[in-house]
Amino acid sequence: MTTENALIEPIVLGAERRKKPSPGARKTVRLGLLGCGTVGRGLLELIERNRALIEERAGISLEVTKILVRDLSKERPGVDRSLLTDRPEEIVAGSLRGATFVAPAPCDIVVELLGGIEPARSLVARAIADGKSVVTANKALLALAGAEIFRAAARSGVRIGFEASVCAGIPIIRALESGLVGNRVDTLCGILNGTSNFILTRMTELGESFEAALEEARRRGFAEADPSLDVDGHDAAQKLAILSELAFGVPIAPGSVKVEGIRQIEPEDVRAAKELGFVLKPIAFARDLGDALELRVEPTLLPIDHTLAHVRFEDNAVLVKGDAAGELIFRGKGAGSLPTASAVLSDIVDIARNGSAPLRYADAPPKPAAPDGHARFYIRFPVIDVPGVIGRIATALGSRGISISHASATLVPGKPGHGNVKVLAHDCRASVLAETIDAVSRLPVLTGKPVAIRILETS
Ligand SMILES: NC(=O)c1ccc[n+]([C@@H]2O[C@H](COP(=O)([O-])OP(=O)(O)OC[C@H]3O[C@@H](n4cnc5c(N)ncnc54)[C@H](OP(=O)(O)O)[C@@H]3O)[C@@H](O)[C@H]2O)c1
Repeated sequence: MTTENALIEPIVLGAERRKKPSPGARKTVRLGLLGCGTVGRGLLELIERNRALIEERAGISLEVTKILVRDLSKERPGVDRSLLTDRPEEIVAGSLRGATFVAPAPCDIVVELLGGIEPARSLVARAIADGKSVVTANKALLALAGAEIFRAAARSGVRIGFEASVCAGIPIIRALESGLVGNRVDTLCGILNGTSNFILTRMTELGESFEAALEEARRRGFAEADPSLDVDGHDAAQKLAILSELAFGVPIAPGSVKVEGIRQIEPEDVRAAKELGFVLKPIAFARDLGDALELRVEPTLLPIDHTLAHVRFEDNAVLVKGDAAGELIFRGKGAGSLPTASAVLSDIVDIARNGSAPLRYADAPPKPAAPDGHARFYIRFPVIDVPGVIGRIATALGSRGISISHASATLVPGKPGHGNVKVLAHDCRASVLAETIDAVSRLPVLTGKPVAIRILETS
């Protein structure tokens, strides 16, 4: 050993240090669970599975004191039935039903895993008023009533943990709230809806139709019986609003995200995308332009070497650009019992360890929506197969100042006389393109609504 090496202290790794926890530092944290469905059961399983690990790492012993459900008779293997109740007042003080007063079970943190707006909204409000920190996975509730909830939490001096509300197991909220707190974020771009990504991946890789891919998503439990929230882009828009508030430090007013779903996508479009060197992905995009925000969710063409082009099936990912950290990518499971429970548990442990002092709530005025930007676009025009059809469309586009770099035509299999003309438009303003497409749609050779898809060039 050299003299120099002898001076270096051996590094004590985390695992070594954790071998001897200080018994004095251990505290019991009592949880009141609202809901015991997919995520609630996952949380109970994870608490049991990793109980010793959490005690060792965080010095916290977790105890579930009550669990609210709707149907007490439901089979719930592994769940201690004596903890179940269908009376919210047994968890949240003040939620009186009828005239009977019930003393709630003691709890330090209320964990809301009911989903939907009511009764989640009222119960969260009562828990906050009662001085309890709340952990929730409910993006719909936060998108609708986030400002009201965070303001109330700031007034009561409690915290709201919501890591699980966006991209489940991916710790993107924590990254934006603390890891990147010293960065100015200018762009955030991601795949925030696993169902849509699953469908577009199957359409791309297996040549399936939208309907067949959706059916498979349903069969595997990735899509609800009514998939509208997912495939029409609203779920991703809610998540984008939550992430943008954190990234840009301003409230996002409901309805500020421009939303377009994936129902209109045909196998023809994913095939054409492939041939042109792109991959079709359900992209959520947010950019801070200083005095305005660009916020949109839409199917988007990515160059095949784009970081998000390789995020397949039900996986989610978020790409963040910070002025100091540069480009960061977060990728993983955006749903599921245990991945979501992992995020819920991280909030519980964080609140238990670091106390309930709320983060400062940014009560800045919302920024207006940015005027539509420039981009290249892929456009498919459903047409009657007649000579000169490509020329007529190219001329109509050109007469409105939109030039094209590629044009091709294909026949629709099984539909004689029907075809598609596909073009790549040069960089143009989205609103000008929309007006032009509207005008071209009125040409007699068109048989249906054209489909325009933005191309995202940067990584
Ligand atoms: N599942 C995921 O992968 C995932 C991912 C990210 C975020 N989330 C979010 O996590 C939350 C929970 O989702 P989940 O999939 O676990 O839902 P879920 O399986 O439908 O479970 C909901 C639970 O809440 C109970 N509940 C609902 N309404 C109630 C009411 N009015 N009174 C009493 N109990 C009621 C249900 O009781 P019963 O059991 O008696 O019906 C059930 O235990 C949602 O906000 C969801 O958006 C879920």
